[in-house]
Amino acid sequence: MNTPTTTPKNIVLIGFMGCGKSTVGRELHKNLGYQLVDMDHIIEERAGKPITKIFQQDGETAFRDQESSLLRELCQPGNPRRIISTGGGIIGRHENRELLRNLGYVVWLNAPRDTIIKRTLKHKTRPLLNTSDAADQITRLMAERHPLYAETAHLEVDTTGLSSYEVASGLLDCARYYFNNPE
Ligand code: S3P
Repeated sequence: MNTPTTTPKNIVLIGFMGCGKSTVGRELHKNLGYQLVDMDHIIEERAGKPITKIFQQDGETAFRDQESSLLRELCQPGNPRRIISTGGGIIGRHENRELLRNLGYVVWLNAPRDTIIKRTLKHKTRPLLNTSDAADQITRLMAERHPLYAETAHLEVDTTGLSSYEVASGLLDCARYYFNNPE
């Protein structure tokens, strides 16, 4: 894999469903004016159907393939100043975890299980949670994914009790420091 010689100044948001990636992404976009790239929206637009339908009709593997392929596309040289909001399961593939770190500063937005449950079970837009035991599924997936988020992220933000504005301004300070003193 080609590793870029200079780190692009993208800010990449990762984290479990309902952790606030889209809201914080919009806040960062307002603050910085960088282009906001919502990967799930792009996949839906290209497929011409919502993610629930992609899962139903084409299967989860097809969705994951589209996710990886879009990620590879985003890693091509281009606009190096974007806010990239990812889907919660993007860290599942080893290839994706490497690509994410090449893409820029990776921030893991972490939120407590109960907050995640409250936010996600209101909507039926997440195929992995359309089950009768959605709360158990959240517990299981969170346990499985936490080490992968931790491995991928440059920064973990505990969002408990913070507004999206507070999360965005805190992580921006860290991002500025990182871009001035890359690994
Ligand atoms: C998924 C999270 C969703 C979406 C898809 C799969 C996951 O995105 O990519 O339903 O595996 O956690 P959000 O994290 O934005 O809900």
